[in-house]
Amino acid sequence: MSNLRIGIILSTTRPMRKSVDIAKWFKAYTDSNRKATYEIVDLNEYHLPLYGDESNMNGVKAFNDKINQLDGFIFVLAEYNHTIPAALTNAISWTQDVFHNKAAGIVSYGAAGGARAAEHLRNVLAQMQVASVQAHMLISLFHDFDENGFKPLAVHQKNLALITNQVESWSQALKTLR
Ligand SMILES: Cc1cc2nc3c(=O)[nH]c(=O)nc-3n(C[C@H](O)[C@H](O)[C@H](O)COP(=O)(O)O)c2cc1C
Repeated sequence: MSNLRIGIILSTTRPMRKSVDIAKWFKAYTDSNRKATYEIVDLNEYHLPLYGDESNMNGVKAFNDKINQLDGFIFVLAEYNHTIPAALTNAISWTQDVFHNKAAGIVSYGAAGGARAAEHLRNVLAQMQVASVQAHMLISLFHDFDENGFKPLAVHQKNLALITNQVESWSQALKTLR
C-alpha cells in the first residue's frame, strides 16, 4: 500500500483554529507508523470563493487538482451549529468528480466530539461517492484540550491504527474502480 496518497483535510479556516494541531498530531502518527503517504490539505491555501463567485478559478482548479491526486481522505471535522463548517461544504461544492470512488475516515471534534457534524458529513460523502469507514475518532473540546492546547487522551492512540487501517484498505480497493 506504499503508493497510496491520503489527504488530511482541514475543515476550518479561522485564525487560531484547533484543526491544525489535530491534523499535525494525526500526521505525526502516520509519518512514523504507516507506509502510505499522508499530507495535510489546508483549505486556506486555495482561497476558494463562495460557490458561484468566479473570482478565483485558479484556486478552484488547484483544489480540484489536489483532490484528484489523492486516493483517500481523513477529514479533521469541527462541528459548527451542529453540522459541517461552511468552509468545507463550500469547498466540496466546487468539486466535480474528483472525490468519486475513494474512501474517507472522520476525525471530529466538538463539545460532543463533533458527532452530529460527522453524521451529516457521512451523508454528504455518500453523495460524493466516497465510502466513509466505520472507525471514527471523536475528540472532546473538554477532555482532549487544556489551557496549553491539544492534549489527546491515551484512549485515542489505538483508534489511530484502526482508522488508518480501514481508510488505507478501502482506498486501495477503490482504486480498481477508477
Ligand atoms: C460558528 C461556530 C459554531 C459552533 N457550533 C458548535 C456546535 O454546534 N457544537 C459544538 O460542539 N461546538 C460548536 N462550536 C465550537 C467549535 O467546535 C470549536 O470552537 C472548535 O474549536 C471549532 O473548530 P476550529 O477551532 O478548528 O475552528 C462552534 C464554533 C463556532 C465558531
